Amino acid sequence: MTPRVDWVTTPAGAPLRGEVVVPGDKSISHRAIMLSALAEGTSRITGFLEGADTRATARIFSQLGVHIEAPSAGERSVHGVGLHGLRRPAGALDCGNSGTAMRLLAGVLAGQAFDCVLTGDASLSQRPMRRVTDPLAMMGGSLDTAGGLPPLRIRGGRRLHGVHYASPVASAQVKSAVLLAGLYAQGETLVTEPHPTRDYTERMLAACGWPVAFEAGRARLTGGHVLHAIDIDVPADFSSAAFFIVAASIVAGSEVRLRNVGMNPRRTGLLHALRLMGADAVEENLREAGGEPVADLVVHGARLRGIEVPVEHVADMIDEFPALFVAAACAEGTTTVRGAAELRVKESDRIAVMATGLRALGIDIEETPDGAVIQGGPMHAGVVDAHGDHRIAMAFAAAGAVVPDAIGIRDCANVATSFPGFASVANACGLALHEA
Ligand code: S3P
Repeated sequence: MTPRVDWVTTPAGAPLRGEVVVPGDKSISHRAIMLSALAEGTSRITGFLEGADTRATARIFSQLGVHIEAPSAGERSVHGVGLHGLRRPAGALDCGNSGTAMRLLAGVLAGQAFDCVLTGDASLSQRPMRRVTDPLAMMGGSLDTAGGLPPLRIRGGRRLHGVHYASPVASAQVKSAVLLAGLYAQGETLVTEPHPTRDYTERMLAACGWPVAFEAGRARLTGGHVLHAIDIDVPADFSSAAFFIVAASIVAGSEVRLRNVGMNPRRTGLLHALRLMGADAVEENLREAGGEPVADLVVHGARLRGIEVPVEHVADMIDEFPALFVAAACAEGTTTVRGAAELRVKESDRIAVMATGLRALGIDIEETPDGAVIQGGPMHAGVVDAHGDHRIAMAFAAAGAVVPDAIGIRDCANVATSFPGFASVANACGLALHEA
């Protein structure tokens, strides 16, 4: 059955203008729930992302016996139970669409006294899990997959020991799963990675008082310490800001100010790439909040030109490629992406899905196993399918800003996983779209 068109963009016209506040960071929100649940004492989280993914993580910890209060939207009080206070859940633990929830929880749950099962939706059930179950088995964990895919059946009561794990993939989820299991392991756990990835787990562990040594591409800790409750103020998610950064960049005369955006250098690769393309995006009011660099971003429309995306920036912009592909389609000349095979195992195969969608809008794009070659050119009206992938849906909404007619976008419901309310935030700054 062909999914229905959920969104229709309105014909390009006026430039984008105004202030945009995007929701809280997804990666930090997941970790805030997880670490505060395992801490001693009560933690208060503000700026929590009220998305389906991060709510799934909170629901799972409730099933594991953690009392979590939600005094208001974006706020949580988590009554931590300590490292050994989780209780056996009554049923399966449903991670929904969230790879981060499933992979990080695999690390936490490998070290528990009880058995449990992690499940996910149709998309998550097609995503590779051996990348976490292999290293966790090396640590003494017992985790079964269905041929490498979810569900994950985790047996408890195992004694974990630290390992030195050289991860073959640049993945913060893999690194974090191993480090979280390392909290329960005897001895030292060391993870190295082929390219440095986001370091939120390491930063937050340190903020909770757990000794952890980390630098780009390497993190090390030992088991046997205690996590202390903390207050966590979650900044706005750079990955959600990315759609507005691109939309404002591709429309002449635009001026958009994005407030309070998390600027962790392991997340902002898109800014480097866009600036190489000629984008006009300036950080203002750079400050530190909750141990993270945060800034307001002011983006003006600019003439973009194609580039070879530097391979060393790929991990730092891994979630931003759908948006980058749209910028490339609007640029003069050719943009080449390499070294990004991970895009094929995200919420959808993002190389294939973006290529099909951009072709439907008239763009010449060639897929390669680990990237794409995109020729910039005019886009025309068409219908594209987001394949249930939140970031694909929002990337095509941004493309609508330059299409003289309308784009119909199918299968957008999962935008609620990371950006509830996207359509109204978009409409408020002139990125006009309506729900069909
Ligand atoms: C995430 C890590 C990345 C990213 C995902 C969130 C995290 O995944 O794509 O959206 O919070 O650790 P990988 O670790 O699979 O690259």
